[in-house]
Amino acid sequence: MKKIQNVWLTINRNCNLRCKWCYAKGKKFDYRFSMDINLAKNIVEFFKELGIEEVALIGGEPTCYHELENLIQYIKNKNMKVCLITNGILFSDPRYLSKLEKLGVDDINFSIKGWSRESYKNNTGVDSYNQMLEALKNLSKSKINTMASFVISDENCEKITDVIELVTSCGIDNFFFSFENDFSVLDGIEKTYDVKTLMKIVKSFENQYSKIDELTKGNFTLHQTLPLCAWNEEIINKMRKQDQIQTSCMLLQRTGLVFDTDGSLIPCNSIHQVKLGTFNKDFKDSETFYQYWESDSMMKIYNKLCALPDDICSKCKDDTVCGGGCLSNWYHFNFNELLDSNAIHPNDKIDKN
Ligand SMILES: C[S@@+](CC[C@H](N)C(=O)[O-])C[C@H]1O[C@@H](n2cnc3c(N)ncnc32)[C@H](O)[C@@H]1O
Repeated sequence: MKKIQNVWLTINRNCNLRCKWCYAKGKKFDYRFSMDINLAKNIVEFFKELGIEEVALIGGEPTCYHELENLIQYIKNKNMKVCLITNGILFSDPRYLSKLEKLGVDDINFSIKGWSRESYKNNTGVDSYNQMLEALKNLSKSKINTMASFVISDENCEKITDVIELVTSCGIDNFFFSFENDFSVLDGIEKTYDVKTLMKIVKSFENQYSKIDELTKGNFTLHQTLPLCAWNEEIINKMRKQDQIQTSCMLLQRTGLVFDTDGSLIPCNSIHQVKLGTFNKDFKDSETFYQYWESDSMMKIYNKLCALPDDICSKCKDDTVCGGGCLSNWYHFNFNELLDSNAIHPNDKIDKN
């Protein structure tokens, strides 16, 4: 059994932005989905028992949570670190930043939603581009370790270097890139992300790789979510060598826990529609948790969630680091479509020994 390494508490679903591609849209940003503070503290206590070092607070928008300061204080008193995953715009107010800095927030994962006033408004529905820039500048002068995260999509894949230049000019030089995923079918919305679009994004990243590497001085991580055989191997090897690529995730590795606002355990931040169990009902401490986590029913669910997309993947030398990619892909196309479009070449990666 692998150790649980990363934990996320979804403390609310309310948000001050309305990102059109947000995976949480299905919850309608409803302010009534808000974690009871006592439940949040009990889950933090449980994290402490598990030996967790850092708790990530996510939403919705965590800075809109009415008990945020109380909760941060509680986590810090337990000698754990706090990370906020945030759109950051409230940090444009230096007094607010100073308050959270004094409470001891350790890390901020700051989501960048635009590279211009127009793109920001188009993405989020809110005219807060200038606030984003102010917030980044304020954070660059603070003690909080800030990383800029950017979700790459069909619409913005040519803008990665613009984003880096913009963020760097505000004093932040640490980057995390990921790909847009789409689980909206679980909310009853029929939408298709086709193979051609995905491959366009991959090729665009590959073409920009040298410039991205240069502008960030190598200081970035790409969390890629396709089968690794979709990539140019040379680029992947370069990124691996410089520790710039995450090829799997906490769901496929079974090393993370995400709790939703009502205390339910969900498989991933993006899959809030699937409930694995509930805190205080199915488990309440480390002992009852491990019984639950290792139960046959949970194993069955994970075996299904983590199934490789094709038999050929089990013969691949990259199987353990790739896992076949993110589950969201298979809601849009199947492995054969990737093969037929010549987007992947799994035969090149078969372990011949
Ligand atoms: C849902 S947001 C919640 C926290 C906060 N409001 C924020 O903007 O960071 C968490 C992270 O997930 C990313 N995200 C949202 N929808 C996504 C999607 N469909 N695919 C990939 N990442 C997504 C956001 O950009 C953000 O970095």
